[in-house]
Amino acid sequence: MRDRVVVKWGGGLITEKSTMTTVRADILDRLAEQLETCLAHDLDVVLVHGAGSFGHLKAKQYRLAEGRINHQTFEGEMSQDEAVEEVRQDMLTLNSYVMEALTKRDISAVTLPPHQWASNTGPDFTGDLTVFRDAPSGIVLVTYGDVVKCDGEAEFGILSGDDLVVRLAVELPRVKRLVFAMGGVDGVLAAPPVPGEAQELLHTLRKDRAFEGSHATEMDVTGGIGLKVDRGFQVVERGIEVMLVSGEHEQRVADACLGRTVLGTSLLA
Ligand code: IPE
Repeated sequence: MRDRVVVKWGGGLITEKSTMTTVRADILDRLAEQLETCLAHDLDVVLVHGAGSFGHLKAKQYRLAEGRINHQTFEGEMSQDEAVEEVRQDMLTLNSYVMEALTKRDISAVTLPPHQWASNTGPDFTGDLTVFRDAPSGIVLVTYGDVVKCDGEAEFGILSGDDLVVRLAVELPRVKRLVFAMGGVDGVLAAPPVPGEAQELLHTLRKDRAFEGSHATEMDVTGGIGLKVDRGFQVVERGIEVMLVSGEHEQRVADACLGRTVLGTSLLA
C-alpha cells in the first residue's frame, strides 16, 4: 500500500493576490509537475488548494465569513446570497485551472467541491471523507477552500483549505506528511517581513515558541500563516510530519512531500 501526502497549494501562491480572479499559470504548471514526481515515487497525493483572488476579495466585501447578516446593504450590487453563488462559481473556475494543469500531465484527478459535501467551518467541520479514503491508488483527490452551509443563524461561512487539511491528514489512513506550499516566503519567519531587510527563516518550530509573546499576533497579521501553523500543530500532535515551504522554487514541494531535506519550516511536536 502506498503512503499518502496531503498538500495545500496556497491561494496566494497559485493566484495573483491583488488582481481579481487571475491565475498564475506558470506556477500551477510547475506544481503539477512536482505532483507528478510524487506519484512516480509511489506516493499518493490528496490536493487541497486555496482561493487567493478568486475568493477572498468578494468574500470580504460581502462579509461571507461572518454568515448571514440581516438588514445590511453592501457596497456593490449583490445580496449576500448572490455573492455566495458568485464566489462558489469563481472557485469552480479556479479549480478548473488546477484540474487542467493536472490533466495536461495525464494525472488522473477528481474534484470534490466542499459546498457539495461539507458543512460548517473550522477544523471540526462536518463532512464524510469516505470518497477520499477509498480513492484508488494513483488517483489524486482534489478539494479547496469554499463557501459552505452552516448550521444555525450563520447559514453559510468560509471553510478554509487550512481546515480541510487537518481532517484529511488525521483521518485518512497512511498519511505520512502534510505540506503547505506558500507564495512569497520560504517558511515561517522569526518576525514579519520588512521590505529590504533580511528575513530570518525558522527551520524548525515548536508549539511553545510559535505562540509566545507578540510573535503570534504579528504572524497572523502577515497573511494567515498563523492559521497554518496552528492547524499544522494539530496534525503534528497526531504523529504526522508537517512542513511549510515555498511553492515558488524548483522541486521544493516535491522534496518536502517525499521527506527529503529541503529549505522550509518543519513543525515539531
Ligand atoms: C478560502 O480558502 C476560501 C474562500 C475565500 C472562498 P483558503 O483559506 O484555503 O484560501 P487561501 O489559501 O488563504 O487563499
